[in-house]
Amino acid sequence: MGTKKLTRRQAITAASAGTLGAMINWSFRPFTIVKNDQDKLALLGGNKVHGGTWPEWPVWDVTAEKNITEMLRSGKWWRGNGDHVADFEKKYAELMGAKRCLATASGTTALITSLKSFGVDAGDEVLVSPYTFIASYNVIFMNKALPVFIDSDPETFLIDPSKIESRITDRTVAILPVHIYGLPVDMDRVNTVARKHNLKVVEDACQAWLAEYRGKKTGTLGDAGCFSFQNSKNLPAGEGGAIISNNESFMDRCYSIHNCGRPFGSVARTSDYPISGSNFRMQQIQALILISQMNRIQKDADIRLANALYLDAKLKEIPGIIPCKLADGAERSAYHLYPFRYISKEFNNAPKEKFVRALNAEGIPCSSGYGPQNKDGLIEETLNSKGYKRLFSESRLRQWREENVLPGNDKLCSEAVTFYQSILLGSRSDMEDIVRAIAKICENRASLNG
Ligand SMILES: Cc1ncc(COP(=O)(O)O)c(C=O)c1O
Repeated sequence: MGTKKLTRRQAITAASAGTLGAMINWSFRPFTIVKNDQDKLALLGGNKVHGGTWPEWPVWDVTAEKNITEMLRSGKWWRGNGDHVADFEKKYAELMGAKRCLATASGTTALITSLKSFGVDAGDEVLVSPYTFIASYNVIFMNKALPVFIDSDPETFLIDPSKIESRITDRTVAILPVHIYGLPVDMDRVNTVARKHNLKVVEDACQAWLAEYRGKKTGTLGDAGCFSFQNSKNLPAGEGGAIISNNESFMDRCYSIHNCGRPFGSVARTSDYPISGSNFRMQQIQALILISQMNRIQKDADIRLANALYLDAKLKEIPGIIPCKLADGAERSAYHLYPFRYISKEFNNAPKEKFVRALNAEGIPCSSGYGPQNKDGLIEETLNSKGYKRLFSESRLRQWREENVLPGNDKLCSEAVTFYQSILLGSRSDMEDIVRAIAKICENRASLNG
C-alpha cells in the first residue's frame, strides 16, 4: 500500500481511532492502543522507544593531530608568525564561493567587526531577526546602535520580509537577517528593501554553513556574511568565526578592525594605526582544527539533509506536528537544528514543556528553542542606560517599546521544538525511532495531560 495523503480532519480522526500509523504505512510498528507497559509513555513509567545512544559532537579528526603537534613544536601559535589562518581563509572563501574571507576569534567578533566596518555607529538603528541567539542583537548594542526587531514568520522560523520596510527610520543603516538553524532567509526580498533604502545587509550565517538559496551559499547573499565555529557548530573549532564578502575595501577595513587598527596585510606594527580596532584574531590552532573539520562538512551536511527530509515527510502526517517550511528561494538548510512546531491543542492541550519532557523520556533528546528575547531584561537595562538615553530621544524609545510587540515571534517561541544537529547524523533506524516516539506520544495524549 502506498502512502495515503490524509486531510487534516482524516488524520485527526484516524489518530483518535489509533489507526494513523496503519493508514500511512509507516515502516515502524504503529501504536494502536495502549495495551501494556511497553506502550505506556516512558515519562509515566513505560519503556522508552530509543534505548541506544546518539552520535556525539564534536568528532575529533586525526588529520588535525600531526599538523597541530608540528605547530605546537614550532612555537608559531598566532597568525603573526604562521600561515594556517590565512590558509583557512583561502579554503573557506573557496568553499563558500566568496572573493574574500577573514577569520576571527568568534562569530560574535565577526558580526561586531562587520557592523563597524560598514560604519554602524552610536545612535544608528539596525533591523534584526528576533528568533535567534542573543549575540545577533548584542553586537548591535556593542556598536552603540539600536536593534529594531522585525516579527518572525512562524512557518519559516525566520524574519518576515513583509514587515521590514515599515520599521525603517532616518537612523536605520543596516539589516541583520539571521539564517537561524541554518534555514535560509528569503534574501531577494531583504535585499530589495535594503537597496531601496540604501541599507547594508549583514547576514548572520553563524548557524548556516553550506545552506543554499537560489543556487548560492548563505553568507554570500547580502553585503557580508558572518559565521561561527564554536564547539557545538556543524564546523567546530572550540571557538572561532569568519566574515566573507566580495567587497574588497570592506574586507580590508575588517582586517584592520580585527587587528588593532593595523592596515590590511600588516600584522604586528607598533605605531601608525590608521583606524580604530581591537584584537579579534583567530589563533593558529583554531585554523588547523577547522581545516581538518572541513574534510567532513559536506558529507555530514548531506546526511543531515537526507534525514531531515525523511523526518519532514513522516512528521507532517502526525496531527499537531508541523515541520518547518523553507522560505521562498531556499534550497537547502544546514540543519544546525531540526525545527518543528508543536500544536498543543492536538495533544490534549498538554503544554509544550510536557511534550518535550515526554520525548526526552522516550530517549529522543530535544529542546524548546529560543524564548521571546525581544523582551529580555538586558534590553530594558540597555535602553535605560545613561548612554542610550543620550543617544536616543525619549519619544523614539517610547515608540520602540510600543512597536516591540511581535505576535508571530511569540507564537513561534511557544510552539517550536528542536533536535540538535548531531541527532541528524544518526541512522535511518534512529530517525524511525524519533517518528515512533512522537507518534506514541500522540497516541497517548490523553495521559500526557492527565
Ligand atoms: C545565530 C548566531 N549568531 C551569532 C552567534 C555568535 O557566535 P559565537 O558564539 O561564535 O560568538 C551564534 C553562536 O551561537 C549564533 O548561533
